[in-house]
Amino acid sequence: MDLAVKFFLPLLLLGLVAVTFSQDDGYGQCERTVMEWKSAALDVDVKEDKHKLQELLFFLHVPRTGGRSYFHCFLKKLYPNALECPHSYDKLRFDPRKPNCRLLVTHDDYSMMTKLPRKKTSVVTILRNPTDRVFSTYEFSIEVAARFLIYPNLTSAVRMASRIRKKTNSVSTLDIWPWKYLVPWMREDLFSRRDVRKFKEHNVTKSSDSYNVEDMAMPLHKYIKDPVAQDIIHNGATFQVAGLTNNSCHAESHEVRHCVHKYRSLGTHVLEVARKRLDDMLYVGLTEDHKESATMFGNVVGSQVISQLMEKSDKEPAVNSKQGQNLHILKSLPSSIHLNRTTENMNIEGTSGNANVKNENVSKKNSLLLFFSAFLKCDDYAEIDDGGQADASV
Ligand SMILES: *[C@@H]1O[C@H](CO)[C@@H](O)[C@H](O)[C@H]1NC(C)=O
Ligand SMILES: *[C@@H]1O[C@H](CO)[C@@H](O)[C@H](O)[C@H]1NC(C)=O
Ligand SMILES: *[C@@H]1O[C@H](CO)[C@@H](O)[C@H](O)[C@H]1NC(C)=O
Ligand SMILES: *[C@@H]1O[C@H](CO)[C@@H](O)[C@H](O)[C@H]1NC(C)=O
Ligand SMILES: *[C@@H]1O[C@H](CO)[C@@H](O)[C@H](O)[C@H]1NC(C)=O
Repeated sequence: MDLAVKFFLPLLLLGLVAVTFSQDDGYGQCERTVMEWKSAALDVDVKEDKHKLQELLFFLHVPRTGGRSYFHCFLKKLYPNALECPHSYDKLRFDPRKPNCRLLVTHDDYSMMTKLPRKKTSVVTILRNPTDRVFSTYEFSIEVAARFLIYPNLTSAVRMASRIRKKTNSVSTLDIWPWKYLVPWMREDLFSRRDVRKFKEHNVTKSSDSYNVEDMAMPLHKYIKDPVAQDIIHNGATFQVAGLTNNSCHAESHEVRHCVHKYRSLGTHVLEVARKRLDDMLYVGLTEDHKESATMFGNVVGSQVISQLMEKSDKEPAVNSKQGQNLHILKSLPSSIHLNRTTENMNIEGTSGNANVKNENVSKKNSLLLFFSAFLKCDDYAEIDDGGQADASV
């Protein structure tokens, strides 16, 4: 967990060092706003056992961390569709109308917790080195926006895209935060650069630096300094865990975020809240250590999900074929995993080899590993369709 937090530090601290602020009224007001938010954020009951999977699993999906593979390759195969929490029109936005759902995977930030039964909710997330996350966000913005270049001009691209969406009723990347802001912005830019290229004809400068091909796309350094990127991408994971993103469902969050952007030193409070939240999560993975993180996900989250679902299916036998279909995955696992419902002896993060972990059932662990080696090979996440219609829950 500490390792995860390390990834947060450099960005916020960098901001701190570089900034001098004036002690004007604005600062005083902002400091009060941030402190009030912080004390409310830290003042929540701690769960009796944060290592125990509660009824609802909230996957706080930070964009560009690879969370999509956890969802498609694993969680979606375990949880019957009926237990998945519904999303509203823009998909990765939670729709709280189904109170008994068990799995919620969204780009919504932590502010969503106020709409969920807090004590009955376990939160998990995956973090990534912020620099890589930013590179990846930039690349994905261009990738999705560039799919529109098949159209002759921006007007026709926008019109065609919305026509296709209406017709197929599918969810587009453009419906999902943060892409619903980042992609149109980049799309407009790509088209205007293409128009300029048309005039220049063959006089296009060649660059070997793919982050700086100014004739074709907004260079990375311009992208990252733009106010849109500053609001949405800078310290994005920290803000998401703190519940302070541009997408937050609380009005006060936006005030806090604006204050922190204005007076960088106030960022330490945000960091403090984010660290506490991470500490209280059931699981935090790291994109960089995919194999280890996925294995740990299996040990910490996966095995508890399986136990929970098996227990549920005993109480209320599967009535529809979908649920049966999902459970067949469990049944195809070596028997030790699903016949034995003892979860107390799980190999919780950091306690492996600990004498407290009595009775660890080795064959159970092996079958989980087996399952996860299948997960590691799963390449569902590579699936991309074109025309801006990709389900970009990456
Ligand atoms: C954009 O392209 C469409 C389709 O070719 C064309 O009808 C329209 O006039 C173009 N609009 C502009 C502003 O160039
Ligand atoms: C081509 O680009 C270079 C550098 O931008 C410029 O000096 C030159 O005049 C341009 N040539 C033409 C034909 O536009
Ligand atoms: C979020 O950011 C986008 C892009 O900068 C902006 O258009 C939008 O209004 C912002 N939303 C909020 C609630 O600040
Ligand atoms: C693990 O569980 C299986 C099946 O319930 C059982 O056969 C095996 O003996 C158990 N192993 C240990 C170490 O408890
Ligand atoms: C599960 O395993 C425990 C210990 O490993 C054993 O005591 C228990 O009987 C097993 N339960 C089932 C249903 O196999």
